[in-house]
Amino acid sequence: MAGRSGAGGKPVETRILPGDEPASIAEAAAAIRAGDPVAFPTETVYGLGADALDPRAVARVFEAKERPRFDPLIVHVADADAVGRYAIHEDAADPRVAALAALFWPGPLTLVLRRREVIPGIVTAGLDTVALRVPAHPVALALLAAAGVPVAAPSANRFGRVSPTRAAHVVCQLDGRVGIVLDGGPCRVGVESTVLLLAGGRAVLLRPGGLPVEAIEEAIGPVERPAHDAPDAASLSPGRGASHYAPGAALRLVEPWPGPGLVTAAGERVGLLAADAAGRAAAEAVGGPFVATEVLSPGGDVMEAAARLFDALHRLDAAGLDRIVAQPVPDEGMGRAIMDRLRRAARR
Ligand code: TXA
Ligand code: MG
Repeated sequence: MAGRSGAGGKPVETRILPGDEPASIAEAAAAIRAGDPVAFPTETVYGLGADALDPRAVARVFEAKERPRFDPLIVHVADADAVGRYAIHEDAADPRVAALAALFWPGPLTLVLRRREVIPGIVTAGLDTVALRVPAHPVALALLAAAGVPVAAPSANRFGRVSPTRAAHVVCQLDGRVGIVLDGGPCRVGVESTVLLLAGGRAVLLRPGGLPVEAIEEAIGPVERPAHDAPDAASLSPGRGASHYAPGAALRLVEPWPGPGLVTAAGERVGLLAADAAGRAAAEAVGGPFVATEVLSPGGDVMEAAARLFDALHRLDAAGLDRIVAQPVPDEGMGRAIMDRLRRAARR
């Protein structure tokens, strides 16, 4: 499937390269330096990266994803030293930044700080802040080191769709729109990074993610947690307002579980997304039949469930369903990120 991509919108040939080979890293780094977007693995999800200091390269990322320009990108950096280069001194010197970086970088934490001029406005959608993260994946770190530039990268999916946790997911959505996809295997964490605003002395959770907010609070004290879709949250993090993570079929979060939403009509193609084996059994006892079933973690391990969430949604997406019924998980710790993604997938 060819789409708009290369400079001028011409389709390009998409190649998957093994991320653990130095030649792949060298080729991908050269592409980044030449202004061509590259898809690469992180521990959370795959990203579609470009040189963050090159506005034209960044514009091609927005174009390939069909992402609206009001939604800012995360800048991936090799280490915490980069904070001082891209954030204003007052925020970079905030002791909470050093504390969180020492504890959680490389890792699934993105810090939003007031930006220096060197970061182009297209990266931050005109905001006066920049989102920074050191990813914990050897392929991502090798790419950052070889490219020698900060890499602006959203998740490597079409805008509004399910984020990729395997190289094949990237190809499904961006074939013909990106030249190189570095393959680093399935993503270990499986949901995107936690996004935390630390600008000007505040601490605000902008997106629950792979690092539980409870762990952040243990390190720096209370974090403001705007209710999802509070006006404050939407204005601080523009990408949060829209519907997201939407699979092709309508998804419904069935609360409480099991509930009447699990009953299927004759001939209706319904997929079951169960959190655990007990949830599956409960659903099958009151509803069904289900033409496709995914169990995120048979034993109810929330880390395992998060790691498998997007993969399960991609598989359900491929099953040609009329609708998907999903089981909630407790809205705490890593479960908060899962519930956030399910709620957004349900709002389409
Ligand atoms: O785990 C991740 O964060 C992945 C991997 C590739 O690193 N990236 C990712 O990017 O999820 P994306 O673009 O899909 O989500 C970035 C989120 C959006 O909700 C965006 O609005 C927010 O970060 N964001 C970026 N810059 C911001 C800023 N300056 N202020 C507030 N929110 C910002
Ligand atoms: Mg995304």
